[in-house]
Amino acid sequence: MQTNIESEADAIPISSGVPGLDHVLRGGFARGRSHLVEGRPGSGKTTIGLQFLIDGRDAGERCLYITLSESKRELRSVASRHGFDLTGIEIFELIPPELSLDPRHRQTLVHSSDLELGETVEMVLAEVDRLKPDRVVFDSLSEIRLLSQGTLRYRRQVLALKSFFLLGSSTVLMLDDLTGGQDDLNLHSVCHGVLRLEQLVPIYGGERRRLRLIKMRGVEIRGGYHDFVIRHGGVTVFPRLVAADHSVEEGGMTLAATRIWMF
Ligand SMILES: Nc1ncnc2c1ncn2[C@@H]1O[C@H](COP(=O)(O)OP(=O)(O)OP(=O)(O)O)[C@@H](O)[C@H]1O
Ligand SMILES: [Mg+2]
Repeated sequence: MQTNIESEADAIPISSGVPGLDHVLRGGFARGRSHLVEGRPGSGKTTIGLQFLIDGRDAGERCLYITLSESKRELRSVASRHGFDLTGIEIFELIPPELSLDPRHRQTLVHSSDLELGETVEMVLAEVDRLKPDRVVFDSLSEIRLLSQGTLRYRRQVLALKSFFLLGSSTVLMLDDLTGGQDDLNLHSVCHGVLRLEQLVPIYGGERRRLRLIKMRGVEIRGGYHDFVIRHGGVTVFPRLVAADHSVEEGGMTLAATRIWMF
């Protein structure tokens, strides 16, 4: 891993490992940048995170999954239900002391939250510094928000994490479960890219999942909603077809592919 200075030129896309998603992202996630993947519980964040790391592992990169929400055991069970092999992927499980039910770690002093947030972030930074990963999944920011007890401290912590990851050139997915209201919007300006996952449950018929790339700096995004499914093997995205993206030259004229298909 090389050190990095922030410039948009070096933020070249790397594959997300999720079939169909690279098309929406115009090549993939930006190398050396932090991205936010947000969605309600059960929307597929962990699954996408695992696919991203498996893709990196297969390409010979160092990959780290930092989990503050699910235990290592729960994570392995999600992976095995999909048939994922996590060999070679480092999993750093850290249940912050304040969120733990272990009596030895329970908060005893009224004002010790400062220390516990600081301790949690420091342990994460130490692990990242030790492993120097190429790809990182941070699951999730919701725990940092809980520990921060305030918008300003929360934003400062996320900025500190982002700057730290940027220094080390890691490509990062920060997961968030959208429980923060206004805080969630503040996060959008901090991250290089923002991907939102949604799950719709109509009155009739089966549930429908869709995603939207809210932003990706320096890229003309394929906006709007794109459907996706979660099944054994993980997430598959079905990018919406845009006629202007599928044009062919014919007799000096450019025709949209949709017109060609009519014949
Ligand atoms: N083998 C499978 N086949 C089909 N769907 C699955 C399979 N395994 C998990 N799922 C679906 O994936 C969803 C969970 O995805 P995931 O754990 O990635 O969500 P998440 O956004 O990380 O949730 P949370 O915020 O609770 O951590 C579940 O709702 C489940 O319906
Ligand atoms: Mg999850």
